[in-house]
Amino acid sequence: MKILFAASEIFPFAKTGGLADVAQALPHSLSKHVDIVCVMPLYDFMDKSLLQKSELSFSVILGDITHLITLYTSNYKGVTTYFIQTPMLSDSQELYSSSSGSYANNNPNFGIFCAAIVLLAKELHVDIVHLNDWHTALAALWIKESAPQIKTVFTIHNLAYQGLFDASMLKYFGIDTKYFTMQGIEFHNQLSFIKAGIAYSDIVTTVSPQYAKEIMSERFGCGLHTFLHTHKEKIFGIINGIDLELFNPQTDTALRATFSSTNINSKYLNKNALLKELSLEISQKPLFVMVSRLAEQKGFDLLIDSIEQILKKNLILVIQVDGENSYKQKLVSIAKRFKNLFLQFGYNEDKSHRLYAAGDFLLMPSLYEPCGLSQMIAMRYGAVPVVHGVGGLLDTVHENQQKCGEGIVFSHPTEDALLDAVDRALKLGNNTKEMKRVIGFNMECDFSFDKSALSYIHHYKELVA
Ligand code: GLC
Repeated sequence: MKILFAASEIFPFAKTGGLADVAQALPHSLSKHVDIVCVMPLYDFMDKSLLQKSELSFSVILGDITHLITLYTSNYKGVTTYFIQTPMLSDSQELYSSSSGSYANNNPNFGIFCAAIVLLAKELHVDIVHLNDWHTALAALWIKESAPQIKTVFTIHNLAYQGLFDASMLKYFGIDTKYFTMQGIEFHNQLSFIKAGIAYSDIVTTVSPQYAKEIMSERFGCGLHTFLHTHKEKIFGIINGIDLELFNPQTDTALRATFSSTNINSKYLNKNALLKELSLEISQKPLFVMVSRLAEQKGFDLLIDSIEQILKKNLILVIQVDGENSYKQKLVSIAKRFKNLFLQFGYNEDKSHRLYAAGDFLLMPSLYEPCGLSQMIAMRYGAVPVVHGVGGLLDTVHENQQKCGEGIVFSHPTEDALLDAVDRALKLGNNTKEMKRVIGFNMECDFSFDKSALSYIHHYKELVA
């Protein structure tokens, strides 16, 4: 069985968030069972020295425009990735934005990527194309239309990002108007990429079982819950995992000191090193960390509303983030008034590992969370997660249950609930013996992709049977 796995970002080549981690770790786990290659766009900011030019090349026709595609390849941890290079798609300095503004939800050039995925799938004679998020979703429609022998799986990592375009863009993408219906790709008179992925894929998955249930409701359905209902027989939730080799506190060279579940004391060397870096005295004060994106999804409104109350408690909070400026400004002004709040702006993989290793607790007040990887990475590095019980956070963090993993879970996204959760964490932190038990227990949990990979394989096999 041959699979082509497509995503807009794949670690280590390009990464803005969890999608890139999953698009690396999942194919890596799947490669133990099936023949799998990946495909992503080649962005101009990427380091080309890691890539080889492929002999394969083709052109993609989108509406009236012909795009000449040059292909590159690279191999990371045994999995080959193809890179689609063509000026309009590749010409960007940042993943989802250009000089003319942010493209977070609406870069039409991902249409070129979708068309290139279809051509590559045909060229490589794959049995299944596994698409991820809206940037790849239009490929499902084109595969149904031009290569129905190829089966498609579409994974939703975040339903809120849908790829919406003015209806006039149908012509630009060369899409027949017969697909522009409520059952098809029309969404409030706009063209929706994500609807193509849902309507025309053979199987749709979400990145946690809980999120698969939640998106059927008005609260989490982002306007698509009724449409999703009509497809519910083919929608499955499969929990994400992490690459246990890349996230390994026993071997991680980014850390100040490596450690394991049987040597938790060495974890504290990482905390001490961070405190020193922040010009703080070595102290037993509980250290809360956040590795996140400044976005509404991640609960920054709730956090900012509660942050003064949180910072009045006997704790230190370090936030490593990138994202929306409005949140940035608010945080900066709060940090000026509170000496126990530290902000690290910008994404830095090594720094984030050091933060997980240093933290006693990870704070994750997400409003919604399709899966979330930070909580799993935190548990692997011995930081106890304090989370809003929603989506994948509910599937992976359990309170008082002796079930992998363990943490503090609050049920409602309110100030009171968050403050109460922080208090419960502080109480746990004060009980050194219990804290060490939870840390050790979480570090032993299996957060790998291996089990989930088998669920995907099961669905793949059903499709090609
Ligand atoms: C998106 C989701 C996050 C998920 C990640 C990987 O970033 O917001 O919850 O963990 O994709 O699937």
